Amino acid sequence: MRLIIIAAHDPNLVIGNNGELPWHYSEDLKFFKRTTMGCPILMGRVVFEELNEKPLPGRENVVLSRSKEYGHVKTFSNIEDAIHYLKDHEKVFIIGGGKIYEQTIGFADELIITEIKQEYHGDTYLVNYRDDIGTVWEEVWREDHPEFAFVKYKRVTQG
Ligand SMILES: NC(=O)c1ccc[n+]([C@@H]2O[C@H](COP(=O)([O-])OP(=O)(O)OC[C@H]3O[C@@H](n4cnc5c(N)ncnc54)[C@H](OP(=O)(O)O)[C@@H]3O)[C@@H](O)[C@H]2O)c1
Repeated sequence: MRLIIIAAHDPNLVIGNNGELPWHYSEDLKFFKRTTMGCPILMGRVVFEELNEKPLPGRENVVLSRSKEYGHVKTFSNIEDAIHYLKDHEKVFIIGGGKIYEQTIGFADELIITEIKQEYHGDTYLVNYRDDIGTVWEEVWREDHPEFAFVKYKRVTQG
C-alpha cells in the first residue's frame, strides 16, 4: 500500500482558515478529484465536518475521530487501526487536515502538493516538509500553472 498525502498550501504553508480552505481554485479541486477517484481517502473529523459529513463520492471515506462515531462512514479513533483497515489497497490518500498531515508525514510514501502562489491569511499550516526536499523527499513531477503548481514528491529516505 502506498500512503499518499495530498495537500494545497500557500507560500507560507497555510492550508486552512476557520475550518475551511482559504481559497477556491476549481482547477485544483478537479485535480484533487481525478487524483483520488477510486481510492480510499483518510481524513480528520474537522475535514469531514467541512464536507458537511457527506462522504466524497467514488472513494471510500475513512474518518479519524476520538469524539465521534459516524454511522455512514468508517470511523477510527487512532491512525494505526485506520491504516491497518486500508492495508490491502494499492493507494490510500491522506486528505488532511493539519493534524492528520502532521501525524502521517513521518511515514507517508508520497506527497502530492498544490503550491498556491498567492498568500492567504490562515490558522492551519502544513508541517514543514520543504527543509527535507533533497534528503527525505525527491521531486519527481511538476506542472506549472499561472496561479499554482502541482508537484509530486517521493520518499527517498525514512523521515
Ligand atoms: N489545503 C488543503 O489541502 C487542506 C486539506 C484538508 C484540510 N484543510 C484545512 O485544514 C483545516 C482542518 O485541519 P485541522 O488540523 O483543524 O483538523 P483535522 O486534521 O481535519 O481534524 C482534527 C481532528 O481529527 C481527529 N484526530 C486527529 N488525530 C487523531 C488520531 N490520531 N486519532 C483519532 N482521531 C484523530 C480529532 O477529532 P475529534 O476532535 O473528534 O477527536 C481532531 O480534532 C481546515 O481549515 C481545512 O480547510 C486544508
